[in-house]
Amino acid sequence: MPLNPTIALIGPGAIGTTIAAALHEVGRTPLLCGRTAHSQLELRYDGGQIIVPGPVLTHPTESAHPFDLVFVAVKTTQIDAAAPWLAALCHERTVVCALQNGVEQESLLAPYVCGATVLPSVVWFPAQREPDASVWLRAKPRLTLPDSPPANLVLSALSGTRCSVELAADFTAIAWRKLLQNAVAGLMVLANRRAGMFTRPDITALALAYLRECLTVARAEGATLSDDVPQEIVDGFHRAPADLGTSILADRQAERPLEWDIRNGVVQRRGRMHGIPTPLSDIIVPLLAAGSDGPG
Ligand SMILES: NC(=O)c1ccc[n+]([C@@H]2O[C@H](COP(=O)([O-])OP(=O)(O)OC[C@H]3O[C@@H](n4cnc5c(N)ncnc54)[C@H](OP(=O)(O)O)[C@@H]3O)[C@@H](O)[C@H]2O)c1
Repeated sequence: MPLNPTIALIGPGAIGTTIAAALHEVGRTPLLCGRTAHSQLELRYDGGQIIVPGPVLTHPTESAHPFDLVFVAVKTTQIDAAAPWLAALCHERTVVCALQNGVEQESLLAPYVCGATVLPSVVWFPAQREPDASVWLRAKPRLTLPDSPPANLVLSALSGTRCSVELAADFTAIAWRKLLQNAVAGLMVLANRRAGMFTRPDITALALAYLRECLTVARAEGATLSDDVPQEIVDGFHRAPADLGTSILADRQAERPLEWDIRNGVVQRRGRMHGIPTPLSDIIVPLLAAGSDGPG
């Protein structure tokens, strides 16, 4: 493991800016690789702000050498377009840490990383990009990684920063539990409403039924999750502020492509693989897909 790893970050949006700021605060500023040029990044949180000096590079040819550690925080719908960055920054000894939702981070990124190791993560904190491109961090940053040798590089890079890192022996279960939460949050897109909608008895019943379907698929994928998980997730939405949104709802309202396939489609696809009927996914997924991608 390199003593002072070189670090790059692709996708300095809500999650990327948070991690870049956490690293910058302790003198480990990453190379910033983006789509839109910015002279600096700004993270705001309760009680302060952090400015990460830029620039945000926008052409992979501006950085032609591989890095030890590359954080990827583009949306999963943006991976193809970010491929030239991965080709420029990765070689077989690079660790690529995916800061993305879903349970398919390794298979989605592997084709682009020049033989590097892809490390999945679960991102636990909500961060919001504001119209001026600054980022509002709404909770303490926290990541969960699988307890595996490449995770030690991320652990040491983020040690002493405001972003805590946990290693999970049963990462599959944790990743699927977060996926269930994301999947049911997709109902907010179909209703065009925020978390308050889950207090309706009819939405509670729908959410529980959908979560039970997702749970059956998660278990077939090897996730050890208890029967209580659907109720726990719905209880969490009941306790949430009524105006709490979700990034897929923000994307819908801004007419951006939705991460519907990695948040909802995956349950339907994996269900089919295992021969598990997914009647609710069969309605929810096409509606989300059409809302994202059209036509019409
Ligand atoms: N935000 C949250 O609270 C949250 C919480 C948990 C998990 N997540 C997950 O984290 C991932 C990132 O989400 P986010 O909310 O941080 O998204 P985001 O704010 O939209 O950030 C994406 C960043 O990637 C950049 N980008 C787009 N295409 C690119 C390309 N071709 N090359 C380089 N950079 C490119 C964007 O640039 P532009 O400035 O040009 O748009 C933007 O800076 C998603 O999978 C999301 O589901 C988010």
